[in-house]
Amino acid sequence: VSERIPGDWAPAAGVLAERVVRITGAGDGLGRAAALASAGAGATVILAGRTEKKLEATHDAIVAAGGSPPALYPIDFAGASWADYAQLAATLEREFGALHGLVHCAARFTGFVPLADLEPRDWLETLQVNLTAPFALTRWCLPLLLRADDAAVVFVTDPRAKRSPAFRGAYGIAKRGLEELAATFAAELEHQGQVRFNTLAPAKLRTGLRRRGYPGEALDAAPSPESAAPAILYLLARASRGRTGLTFLL
Ligand SMILES: NC(=O)c1ccc[n+]([C@@H]2O[C@H](COP(=O)([O-])OP(=O)(O)OC[C@H]3O[C@@H](n4cnc5c(N)ncnc54)[C@H](OP(=O)(O)O)[C@@H]3O)[C@@H](O)[C@H]2O)c1
Repeated sequence: VSERIPGDWAPAAGVLAERVVRITGAGDGLGRAAALASAGAGATVILAGRTEKKLEATHDAIVAAGGSPPALYPIDFAGASWADYAQLAATLEREFGALHGLVHCAARFTGFVPLADLEPRDWLETLQVNLTAPFALTRWCLPLLLRADDAAVVFVTDPRAKRSPAFRGAYGIAKRGLEELAATFAAELEHQGQVRFNTLAPAKLRTGLRRRGYPGEALDAAPSPESAAPAILYLLARASRGRTGLTFLL
């Protein structure tokens, strides 16, 4: 089911106050914008991502804007094991006790390729980063989410993966799997009413991922990743309570 963020919704000051939110891909693009917006809305943010320097830059930008200092969790999802995910959840439990939000922004996309030419390593690493990591992080953090009085998981997908799958390779297949993953968590946990699971499908954003996919494209006029951050705040905030298993188009 495709949904839209309510047109009249704007984040009130402190809408995520006293909430702990963990964001992947927080060093760049949409993940960075979501981290800054969440911290600006009062959340304590945990920044997960591959490149430590980029996470540090996001940390510094949050502190400079007056947000509470975020925690940093560098991790490479391409090589992470089940034990790494379990350890991440254990660290969060020790440090924070409960979790109010998980935002899965990290993604691997190396460019268009026909399935007939897809390299095994590209297949494996892309599925690891784009599908296994969101599953494992959600699965291991579920007890922490259920401990919060209200919590949300946001999976960022790509609407084009379904509309025109050709040549999107493992990226497109993983994104379609991600939508099923979100829907399955939502269906299995709908009865508890406390944690919601939704998918956000942004159209074109001016980020490194888009540049890698469309190297010849003029991106200057494309929407910034910051323009998509309010939608993530909506899905994290109590405003979206009761809405689960949905795909929100931007
Ligand atoms: N841009 C668009 O037009 C568009 C459209 C639809 C959907 N999306 C979705 O939006 C989300 C955010 O993408 P973006 O456009 O903001 O791209 P981006 O700027 O390239 O950000 C992707 C993030 O994923 C992280 N990442 C990549 N491989 C990783 C790994 N092995 N382990 C841990 N982290 C890893 C990157 O870390 P490093 O920076 O350290 O490499 C980066 O922070 C993605 O899920 C993407 O599919 C984007």
